[in-house]
Amino acid sequence: MTLLIQNGEIVSDGQRYRADILVEGETITQIGEQLSAPADARVIDASSKYIFPGFIDPHVHIHLPFMGTFAKDTHTTGSIAALMGGTTTYIEMLAPAGSERLSAGWKTWTDLAEGKSACDYSFHIGVTRWDKTTEATLRKLVAQGMKSFKVFLAYKGAFGIDDNALYQVCKLAAELGVIVTAHCENADLVSQLQQKLLAEGKTGPEWHEPSRPEGVEAEGTAHFATFIEMTGARGYVVHLSNARSLEAALEAKERGVDLAVEVVIPHLLLDKTYAERGGVEGAKYVMSPPLRDQSNHRALWEALERGQIDTVATDHCPFDVAQKHMGDADFTKIPNGIPAIEDRANLLYTYGVSRSRLSLERFVDAVSTRAAQLFGLYPRKGTVSVGSDADLVIYDPHYRGTISAATSHMNNDYSGFEGFELDGRPEIVTVRGEVAVENGEFVGTVGRGELLRR
Ligand code: URP
Ligand code: ZN
Ligand code: ZN
Repeated sequence: MTLLIQNGEIVSDGQRYRADILVEGETITQIGEQLSAPADARVIDASSKYIFPGFIDPHVHIHLPFMGTFAKDTHTTGSIAALMGGTTTYIEMLAPAGSERLSAGWKTWTDLAEGKSACDYSFHIGVTRWDKTTEATLRKLVAQGMKSFKVFLAYKGAFGIDDNALYQVCKLAAELGVIVTAHCENADLVSQLQQKLLAEGKTGPEWHEPSRPEGVEAEGTAHFATFIEMTGARGYVVHLSNARSLEAALEAKERGVDLAVEVVIPHLLLDKTYAERGGVEGAKYVMSPPLRDQSNHRALWEALERGQIDTVATDHCPFDVAQKHMGDADFTKIPNGIPAIEDRANLLYTYGVSRSRLSLERFVDAVSTRAAQLFGLYPRKGTVSVGSDADLVIYDPHYRGTISAATSHMNNDYSGFEGFELDGRPEIVTVRGEVAVENGEFVGTVGRGELLRR
């Protein structure tokens, strides 16, 4: 299939310009003025639209056995929802339970994805235990192109690892040139605070945030940064949620630690008052790190615009209302997570670019290019360039709409962003040259998505 996309404004790699794009097969083959195409090419008029590189979500959970249940999406539902929001690649956290061997986890996660996804995907390899087989398996997976690890400092007894294991993971990552992504909360502090609050009869979702206060995350962030520093590895803090933790990350960066920072869309737009609604309405907004005091938003947005925060991801992790009820009597039993894979870029465009908090160039960088660079996908992905995969988002900034669970493609029965207005949406999305979304409809091919080796 040949596509000729005419008259759009391309925004990529810090530049904005008008040009036509020719796509032949899966690849962008020409960018220029007044391009011509064969008679059987499909011609798309992108006048008054932006053309962005396909968005990349570097932090999603599709299959996740967690807190006695499972996150709800499959690769089919998750990838269709991703594409509707312009995300053409996601990186899933492969997170075997600590009792499960990594090699078995690799098989489980890849079997669940293969042939099921409509967009491209890859994995951060979760290291949830360290024994003599772990290192050998990690070396093998890195050789096969899985070039990022994931560690949890939180979730003691599930995914969490101790400092000895953390040191081994970072040391191996430094040797292999692999980036280590980390959930940074001090697990022991969380556990102590949870027990204290429960003993005081504080059982509702409004106590989730006080059980993991900002200092607990700031300590985790500084702690992780120190391990990165001592081993000479590259680090990436996932879902950083507040100004105090940001300070810890920036302080480490200033002394030369190779640390990138991710923020997720719930922490930019929601705050702890949502979880304070109480009962299951509050439980819908329980995630970790928790939604914070609104006073943190400004620091996060400003750091994002300055590039001190590198990427905006989702931490997409859907649990439905029935699952959220598992924590009715005890907030520590509420499955943690908020779904967002479909809405990330539209929300960032609306509440960032459209509300003048974020430049268009930084928007594209944070939602696509930077993740491609950090995780070894660039320039195949994350850029509108000749030779790159034709993953393109033709974005209509004149669209007006509202988010609702009723119209969402995510496999869930509520939206954390219900009623949020949108100032734009992808009109056409292509995955390696195939049109996968058109005028708000999924028209792609389930199973076309490939495992990206990086
Ligand atoms: O609440 C969250 N974030 N759930 C998903 C697991 C994780 O910590 O990323
Ligand atoms: Zn996490
Ligand atoms: Zn996560």
